[in-house]
Amino acid sequence: MIFYFSGTGNSRWVAEQIAALTGDNAQDIVALRQPPSLQDVGQVGLVFPIYAWGPPEPMVSFVKALPKTEAFCFGVCTCGSEAGHAMRKLARLYPLQSSYSLVLPNNYIIGAEADSETVIQQKLNTARSEIEVLSREILQRKPVFRVKEGSAAGLKSSLVNFGFNRFARSTKPFHADSSCDGCGLCAHRCPAATISLREGRPVWGTACYQCLRCLNECPRQAIQYGDSTQGKTRYTLQKHWKES
Ligand SMILES: Cc1cc2nc3c(=O)[nH]c(=O)nc-3n(C[C@H](O)[C@H](O)[C@H](O)COP(=O)(O)O)c2cc1C
Ligand code: SF4
Ligand code: SF4
Repeated sequence: MIFYFSGTGNSRWVAEQIAALTGDNAQDIVALRQPPSLQDVGQVGLVFPIYAWGPPEPMVSFVKALPKTEAFCFGVCTCGSEAGHAMRKLARLYPLQSSYSLVLPNNYIIGAEADSETVIQQKLNTARSEIEVLSREILQRKPVFRVKEGSAAGLKSSLVNFGFNRFARSTKPFHADSSCDGCGLCAHRCPAATISLREGRPVWGTACYQCLRCLNECPRQAIQYGDSTQGKTRYTLQKHWKES
């Protein structure tokens, strides 16, 4: 079984590709109400995006409750450029025989611009080839550590990641501007179930993963984070993925 968390579709796509290539199923951890039984599973995969050089909180909580198994276990993270020590951190919580990172389009439009269409297509094409290779290695049960950790990985995955989780996940800067038409998609799709509609406009609670699904998926591009996202192109995999 391949368990995934995904904000804007990259990690979901990766999990589904690996599942198809290894004859397995992909399961969104947000849809699970209790830790799954791993009896009779042939393999366990964990697929998720990197947030500030670390694994996202929902995946950390999930693996803490996941039963240990004799089955082959692997982790695959998706990141815009580098993963830091995220996979080492996760492997301390759940034993992984193999760890991989894949560079995919950046969805963190609070800190930077979204990737250009050319870069997005290059990243997707490269990732597709890498998924084929790693899926073969997984089928062979080959232990592999192929993670692009980047520079100062230890510092980024400890101090900077701590700062991100402690201070940067505030929902206070989220707001919908006047182009919001009250469709409710953001509230319906938030994996933390922290958005509700009040008088036809979204309001944010406090429990946010910072997955940026609401910001990137809003069909009217009405959601802003302070003044750092105005006029920026939104990213979701669905907008860019072309079967070829
Ligand atoms: C809050 C946040 C922090 C991020 N931090 C990093 C990072 O430290 N390194 C990196 O390469 N990409 C970073 N990214 C980019 C995502 O990891 C990347 O776009 C990922 O593939 C998104 O996956 P998803 O579509 O499954 O949500 C960050 C994205 C978000 C939303
Ligand atoms: S998805 Fe966008 S348009 Fe729809 S309610 Fe949310 S903010 Fe408004
Ligand atoms: S509020 Fe937005 S960023 Fe936070 S968890 Fe929900 S969809 Fe993700």
